[in-house]
Amino acid sequence: MKISPASHVRGTIRLPGDKSISHRAAMLSAMAVGETRIDNFASAEDCASTISCLRSLGVAIERAGNTVVINGVGKTGFFPPAGPLDCGNSGTTMRLLSGIVAGQDFPCVLIGDESLQMRPMKRIIGPLTEMGAAITSNDGRAPLSISGKNPLTAIEYRPPVASAQIKSCVLLAGLNADGETTVIETVQTRDHTERMLRWFGVDVAATETEGGLRITVSGDAVLTSRDLIVPSDISSAAFFMVAAACLRGSDIVLPNVGFNASRAAIFDVLGDLGANMRLTGQREVNNEPVATIRTQGGISAAKTPRANLVNGPTVANLVDEVPILAVFGTQIDGGIEIRDAAELRVKESDRIAAIVENLRRMGATVEEFPDGLKVERSDLAGAVIDSFGDHRIAMAFAVAGLLASGETEITRAECADISFPGFFDTLASITDA
Ligand code: S3P
Repeated sequence: MKISPASHVRGTIRLPGDKSISHRAAMLSAMAVGETRIDNFASAEDCASTISCLRSLGVAIERAGNTVVINGVGKTGFFPPAGPLDCGNSGTTMRLLSGIVAGQDFPCVLIGDESLQMRPMKRIIGPLTEMGAAITSNDGRAPLSISGKNPLTAIEYRPPVASAQIKSCVLLAGLNADGETTVIETVQTRDHTERMLRWFGVDVAATETEGGLRITVSGDAVLTSRDLIVPSDISSAAFFMVAAACLRGSDIVLPNVGFNASRAAIFDVLGDLGANMRLTGQREVNNEPVATIRTQGGISAAKTPRANLVNGPTVANLVDEVPILAVFGTQIDGGIEIRDAAELRVKESDRIAAIVENLRRMGATVEEFPDGLKVERSDLAGAVIDSFGDHRIAMAFAVAGLLASGETEITRAECADISFPGFFDTLASITDA
């Protein structure tokens, strides 16, 4: 895919439904009793993987465009699949679904593509084994063979890394356990699972304690179907926020974007770094905060001297936006330093290495650390970019291409479909060279 420099971006973009929320909407509707209609379901390929796995588990699902209707089977009504459950590229599908199948009385196998087979699964094998599931793997990686059990043993679990996927996996397994299952978070991660469980009528306790946030579900819980609308994806919005902020004369409006505090740190961080952004129409849609985000071109001075260092718990709340944040860093005084982000090394690619490599290809001055990177303010030059088959790398560097001098070429750019089919067409539609 070739990207030419742009002078500005303008327009109103209705972004696809949130990927994280769509996965949960599909899985929890499947575990509910009754029929659920989901509107604005993500067009992301990852969410199609979730739908296809649920169908293999005997769930009747109708899909017409972005409307999905799911006939819930209840917490234990799934059927043994005829073959392996293919999670494609999707870590969320594999980790959350593992929590669900661990509580079923049958065995199944979860597989994934080359990237997913490289990703760490011990983090869910550990707690699920403690709960009574029997799991074999390829030394802690997929394929995973899970022999489920019902009921599982309720546990109290403190994830060793900040991860919404681990938390959600254990909570979903907890719905089929013999008592109360608690996850203790010292760093808070996205809470979409908790919010959606409540939407489906489940009592989820979340209590702040000295040791962290204790989140508890009961094995007695019953999920009751209830229609919902998925907000647009803030992780997709971030690419357009950065493009608009960096190009003078830009004006981009993004309506109905999910603005959950555990996901929206990118908005505050860009604002603190001088981006010109405004929020309107804040409201809640099925327990999820939503807002319209408007970004106009031009960056002022950073609001605080510390703004150029992004680290600590903030990182968990913009974990998927780090690639585009690094690109933003090339455009601001003082650049940007991102630390405490070692988890990025085990995403769809080693994102730290991928960002550093590609920023250098574009002529930026970058330092790499085990847990992050530091990039100076740099003039970017068009280059051949290796997406490493990672959707967020492909899209972040497409935006970098708009800001660069000369043409940029992104390899294997079709991987953008993992979270945002149509991304390049959308980008072209708002770009005025
Ligand atoms: C996700 C959680 C995050 C995020 C991923 C989606 C989720 O992963 O990076 O894109 O939907 O729960 P981790 O839980 O591994 O941090």
